[in-house]
Amino acid sequence: MLKEIGYKVWQLKTEFVYRLALKKYAKSLPALSPADRQIVDRLQQEGVYVTSLEKLGFASTPQLLDACSKVLSCTEPECDRSVAKSPLQIYALSELTDFSLWGNDKRLLDIVQNYIGLPIKFQGIQLRRESSHPDQFGAMLWHKDGDDRRSIKVIIYLSDVDREHGPFEYIPKSLTAVGWLRFWIDYQIFRTGFSGLKNDKMEQLVPRSAWKSCVGAAGTVIFVDTHSVFHHGSLRTAERSALFFVYTARHPKRPDLCRRYSHPSHPRPNLSPNAQTSEAAVSLEV
Ligand SMILES: [Fe+2]
Repeated sequence: MLKEIGYKVWQLKTEFVYRLALKKYAKSLPALSPADRQIVDRLQQEGVYVTSLEKLGFASTPQLLDACSKVLSCTEPECDRSVAKSPLQIYALSELTDFSLWGNDKRLLDIVQNYIGLPIKFQGIQLRRESSHPDQFGAMLWHKDGDDRRSIKVIIYLSDVDREHGPFEYIPKSLTAVGWLRFWIDYQIFRTGFSGLKNDKMEQLVPRSAWKSCVGAAGTVIFVDTHSVFHHGSLRTAERSALFFVYTARHPKRPDLCRRYSHPSHPRPNLSPNAQTSEAAVSLEV
């Protein structure tokens, strides 16, 4: 009992310190153009903003696209035997300059910083190659990420994603922001041991007509606060490849969970010498 009270007091104290830090740092947030402000506003309202590499127009995009085609070709199942049996293969790309340059674009960092409201940490970059699977498991179950109070993932589709490729799907924040529904879904996820809900269960809580599916062409970019929206990768019958850039506050609520984005168990693409993208230390803290 005393232990529980002590934990609650600690939670209230950390929440108070967090709110105070947001207030103090608000004056130091970088200025945004009207277009970039719209991304932050939309994230605050709905938790998701969908755009494209072309519309964002970062200077390093051509370099990123060139590196993507090299990485995709050397991680094809016939080139990489480790993916043959697994429906999900994650590759760590954080140390490859062509990817980290894009993820460290000043405009992108300013957008993320304005949304998170504090100095940020670029947690890492992953390539996720996901093949067809008949059942929902892992990130295909409905869930929220627990890394931080506000946590941004920037997802880039590397091939056209239609229904059969398992598009990213979410429930708009405005539907669950207040009231009993968010609490009730959280409770149902808690009952699964935080593994997540299958479609049939989520359908009982939120009708399918309210789910938003992010189908899109190669180059579609999805900004999402994965802490504030219920989301998942939907079931697929064809492969989907996508990049994930992950950002949290510099001192996230759950640094232990954030380590998965730079976990050494994830292989680095085995680039051939002439396809090797240059490696360099790029600052991951802003
Ligand atoms: Fe997630």
